[in-house]
Order: sequence, then structure tokens, then C-alpha cells
Amino acid sequence: MYSTTLLSNQTILVTGGRSGIGYSIAENALKQGAKTVFIASRDAEKLNEACEKLKAFGDCRCFSLDIRQPEQVSKLADFIAAESGRLDILINNAGGQFPSAAEDISINGWNAVINNNLNGTWYMTQIMAKRFFIAQQSGNVINIIANIFRGFPGMVHTGAARAGVDNLTKTLAVEWARNNIRVNAIAPGIIASTGLENYPPELLKGISDRIPMKRLGSTQEVADLTLFLMSPLSSFITGETIYIDGGQRLWGDVFEL
Ligand SMILES: NC(=O)c1ccc[n+]([C@@H]2O[C@H](COP(=O)([O-])OP(=O)(O)OC[C@H]3O[C@@H](n4cnc5c(N)ncnc54)[C@H](OP(=O)(O)O)[C@@H]3O)[C@@H](O)[C@H]2O)c1
Repeated sequence: MYSTTLLSNQTILVTGGRSGIGYSIAENALKQGAKTVFIASRDAEKLNEACEKLKAFGDCRCFSLDIRQPEQVSKLADFIAAESGRLDILINNAGGQFPSAAEDISINGWNAVINNNLNGTWYMTQIMAKRFFIAQQSGNVINIIANIFRGFPGMVHTGAARAGVDNLTKTLAVEWARNNIRVNAIAPGIIASTGLENYPPELLKGISDRIPMKRLGSTQEVADLTLFLMSPLSSFITGETIYIDGGQRLWGDVFEL
């Protein structure tokens, strides 16, 4: 659908790019002519396997890290600088959460999700911006968050973390516009992806019936929206959160409490 030269000369980092939505974003970017795609996440073995598969589509490289550890994020920036000399696009996709009634979430559980989905995204964004985007006077950050339009009943921790990222997306878009850096977010609804394997099947039973379009989204659909925001086709868009949810946010909550 898109031209295969849309991302020519672009060096891209996709956190959590070994699986699900992140993998589709990485594959799509390589198919659309990206110069190099870096993928980064914790499980080194699975990361290497994904990297080998992605090499069928272009130049893919990988780096194992935990986004919650800023010193590891700095080492990733060193790695990208040594391998490519620049970074053009950062996709903050790594993240995770677990369903729980608000009153049952432990301090550790709360901190784990906030650290991953808010702090990890922040460390990655600030470190990559200072190392590459501000120095280059060009950059593009895309944050994958979640459908937080009506709060996030059943997962208050990730709702709070994603709302933080939604807000920093707006702030950074304004602060860094002078550095020619765009910052946007994508809010997926329920996407048929590996992340759903972490949820109990009973939570997902009949879920399509509670989405106006009567189906789940695909990782390819999220990757195609990400591609639009990565590309010059969206060159005047910054500070936006785009929902991709089959209309779910306008209708109601999908998870039974
Ligand atoms: N699927 C959906 O319906 C949906 C809806 C809304 C939002 N989202 C969000 O979209 C993103 C991708 O979702 P998905 O369904 O494709 O899930 P997924 O397959 O579980 O992807 C999450 C990725 O993030 C990596 N990751 C998690 N914590 C990390 C950490 N601390 N440091 C580095 N890497 C980390 C994981 O790899 P390692 O385990 O190897 O670290 C994994 O590759 C997630 O942030 C998810 O919460 C998903």
C-alpha cells in the first residue's frame, strides 16, 4: 500500500520488537526500506531468534536490555552510535501489565507496572533524545500506549502509567518542536497479539462482541498506523494520540470487572 522507499535512510529502534506489535512494526519498517532496525528487549534468546527472522527483510540488529535500567539504556545508545552513528526514529513499544482489581494490587505490582510502562519509556526517550535527536536536530518518537479514554477499569496501574506517557507526549511535542523532533502516541484497543497470552482466557471470552467493529485489531494494523507516523506522510503531526480500537473507546469498557 505504501511506497517501499518511505523509510529510506531511516535508522529505527523498536523496543519490545521481538514479539507481537513490536515485531510487526519492525518487519513493516524493514519492508518499507528502513536502513537499519534495532530491536531491544530482555529475553536475549528470543530476541536473537526474532532478529534472525527479521534479517530476511533487511538490516536488523538486536540488543538485550531492561528498559527500567537507565544505565542499560545508555549502553544501548552507545551500541546504536557505534553500529549506525545516528538514530532517526524511536518506537517505545516495550511494556506489560496484569489484570487486577485496584484494591488487590500490591506495592510491588504497582511499582513494577509504573516502572515498566512510564519510567522505562521516559528513560528511553530522554536518553535517545539527548544522545541523538537533539544533537541531530531531528527525530521522531512514537509511544505505544493503550486505550485510556475512559480510565482503565481492571488495570488501574497501566492506566495511570499510560496516561503519564500520553501527557509527556504532548509536553515533549511542544518543548522539542524547536529541535525538529516529533512526538506522538498510538493507543491500541484489543489487538490479537502475544501480549494477550498473559491474560486469563475468561477475561477475553466474548470480547469481540463488546467492540463496535466486532473483532480484535491485528498487529499489522497497528504497524501500518505506526508506519504513517514514522513517515513524512505525517510530517506536520505532533503531540497527538491516535486511537486504533475499532471504535471501542466511544462505546464502553471491554473487560468484565
Ligand atoms: N495487545 C494488545 O491488545 C495491547 C493493547 C494496548 C496496548 N498494548 C501494549 O502494546 C505493547 C506491545 O504489546 P504486545 O501485545 O505485542 O505484547 P508483547 O508481545 O508481550 O510485547 C511486549 C514486548 O515488550 C518487551 N518488554 C516488556 N518489558 C520490558 C522491559 N522491562 N524491558 C525491555 N523489554 C520489555 C517484551 O520482551 P521481553 O519479555 O523479552 O523483555 C516484549 O517483546 C505493550 O506495551 C502492550 O502493553 C497491547
